[in-house]
Amino acid sequence: MAIKLLDQEKGPHISKYIYGQFSEHLGRGIYGGLYVGPHSDIPNVNGLRTDVVDALKQIHVPVLRWPGGLFADTYHWQQGIGPQKDRKKIVNTNWGGVTEDNSFGTHEYFELLKQLGADAYINANIGSGTVQEMAEWVEYMTMPGESPMATLRRKNGQKDPWKLKFFGIGNESWGGGGNMRPEYYSDVYRQYQTFLPQYDAKHPIYKVACGPNEDDYEWTETLMKNATKYLDGISLHYYTLPTGDWDHSKGSATGFPASLWYSAMAKAQLMDRLITKHTAIMDKYDPEKRVNLIVDEWGTWYDVEKNTNPGFLYQQNSLRDALTAAITLNIFQKHADRVSMANIAQMINVLQAMILTKDDQMVKTPTYYVFDMYQRHMDAQLVDGEGDVPERVTYTASKKDGELNVSLGNYDLTQDRQIVFTFSDTYRDISDASIITGNKMDAHNTFDDPNEVVEKKFTGASLKNGQLVIDLPAKSVVSITIKS
Ligand code: AHR
Repeated sequence: MAIKLLDQEKGPHISKYIYGQFSEHLGRGIYGGLYVGPHSDIPNVNGLRTDVVDALKQIHVPVLRWPGGLFADTYHWQQGIGPQKDRKKIVNTNWGGVTEDNSFGTHEYFELLKQLGADAYINANIGSGTVQEMAEWVEYMTMPGESPMATLRRKNGQKDPWKLKFFGIGNESWGGGGNMRPEYYSDVYRQYQTFLPQYDAKHPIYKVACGPNEDDYEWTETLMKNATKYLDGISLHYYTLPTGDWDHSKGSATGFPASLWYSAMAKAQLMDRLITKHTAIMDKYDPEKRVNLIVDEWGTWYDVEKNTNPGFLYQQNSLRDALTAAITLNIFQKHADRVSMANIAQMINVLQAMILTKDDQMVKTPTYYVFDMYQRHMDAQLVDGEGDVPERVTYTASKKDGELNVSLGNYDLTQDRQIVFTFSDTYRDISDASIITGNKMDAHNTFDDPNEVVEKKFTGASLKNGQLVIDLPAKSVVSITIKS
């Protein structure tokens, strides 16, 4: 049985921002993992780890959300500017009660973006901050002319304004960001966005409101009813917990039973239903699909690794995470007409990370390699398919520059599958094909063995009689590009 890829003239555009990242002041997500300071023995450029930045450059991080998460609603930006030695030391009350010395602030964030070539997505503090504080931060970052905040920015060494592409007004305002009710939040959002300064009429800052938690459809309904005309995007947060149990045990990142492999896959697939139902509500208020759904927190969440600070959310990352990432990214692409950005939580050392570090060592995780393989879909055109998809197989397809890209995951633990794709166009060559797999379902990379799960050349695909035939091994993710 074959899947027919429909080379439609114009499919939805797959935004590169779907492959976005998130880094919060949480555990070693920033300090140690990304930022070690200019005087560290760990090789760095302006305090940013060279090894980590180099690895991230390979996956072309398109956007980085910062400074939180929950931390955002306790963050006072003025404490993170000026000479580092004079910056106020505070307590990170959300994450482990550790001292936050504010050495990574606005200037260091934009330096990181410059090194990565990524766009900015900053989350404002509306939980414990003020409208004025938010407005002044945006003035500090983006005012090109003379103004009190622009003068302060120049005094601190940054002559030109930075480009602030995305701006979040509220993080989990239904919970740790203020425990607000949707009616109240809608008004707070309307108020804050009124005072968001926009100095560049040609490139206005894109405003993201705090959207729903998981299946809170009432939140979406109320927000859309009350604020649609003031919105560019609304966020959605959904984490994959294999056990489904936030309170007692989220399960271990490695050494888990097969049942928790399969429940992780099922939980990851829930994202499809959530997006479908939230977008149906959005369609009522915004049938033209002007407002986007921004999944700015997603990923797996397990119990922390043994002997680590529970507030640091440090977890291993295995082949299981590669498969849940593939399932989720395929869902985002399927909904490319509404989902225009997503930010996996979190980029380094926290939850479903791309990279883990220990002192001067680093390892790339299986999830990193999925992001590497899926780059081929960035800013491509979605290609729909028709035909039956074998059980426990997930796929997505796109077209870019005359090439066709297909990515697949087979999350059956033992059964290989053969998948056949047909098309109306003629494709003659496989230009690139790679695979991530492993001997065990919890195969993972460690500092002693960093190459247990890596991306390898895939030889199980062939083009025969105008068909793409793929022998997809059990527990694997495969990406293929073919050309005419
Ligand atoms: O990503 C970790 C935390 O999860 C974020 O700070 C918060 O927004 C969410 O609850």
